[in-house]
Amino acid sequence: MKKLLAISSSPGRSHSYSRNLVHAFVDNFSQKMTETKVVTRDLAEQPIPHLDEATIGAFYTPTDQLSNEQKKILALSDDLIDELESSDVIVIGAPMHNFSIPSGLKSYIDHVARVGRTFQYTENGPQGLLQGKKVYILTTRGGDYSQMPMAALDHQEPYLRTVLGFLGLDDIEFIHSQGMAMGEEKSKQAFEDAVASISTKVNDLIFEKGASYV
Ligand SMILES: Cc1cc2nc3c(=O)[nH]c(=O)nc-3n(C[C@H](O)[C@H](O)[C@H](O)COP(=O)(O)O)c2cc1C
Repeated sequence: MKKLLAISSSPGRSHSYSRNLVHAFVDNFSQKMTETKVVTRDLAEQPIPHLDEATIGAFYTPTDQLSNEQKKILALSDDLIDELESSDVIVIGAPMHNFSIPSGLKSYIDHVARVGRTFQYTENGPQGLLQGKKVYILTTRGGDYSQMPMAALDHQEPYLRTVLGFLGLDDIEFIHSQGMAMGEEKSKQAFEDAVASISTKVNDLIFEKGASYV
């Protein structure tokens, strides 16, 4: 059975384009792969705290030297990493906030980017430990960053590619919904295009991975 981890990061809970796109992805994927187990993580419903000194201290303490208090502190990070490790496909809904990502998603990343768990340093440099997973990122943006000069202001896709790639999650596909604040017609079209693109990309995944994925 395939496991799909669906992460929503928009703080908007009553209305959110990216959350609706994550739902569309889950529906499409589950219809085509009926054996799928879906795990959802909503970073607005269950916010991840900012890193503090005690948590960072626990991250860098060797496992055999962890105090009971530090083990408790690490429980959230451990759970989040276990959830990622056991997933085959990960979909992330990510609005653009201030040219990058929402702070809740940044906190999530800070808890899963952990030396010895999701990356390690080797004599050849850093190595990501989350291997063999497919990642889809469904972005929503008020503006349109598809062309220069706006494209140069996009710190969202490059950042996510860098940090997730550092953890070994380098098979990433982005579906961007642009111009969500540029009038109803443009936002409606962008949303519909993203839903169509989700369907195409799920079909491509099944084609690429073969019958074992169905
Ligand atoms: C705090 C905040 C910061 C934002 N910053 C940007 C930005 O830098 N660039 C942009 O194009 N849109 C920006 N937006 C607009 C959102 O990206 C857009 O409304 C998007 O549709 C939000 O996704 P959601 O509906 O899933 O919450 C911002 C919105 C908020 C609430």
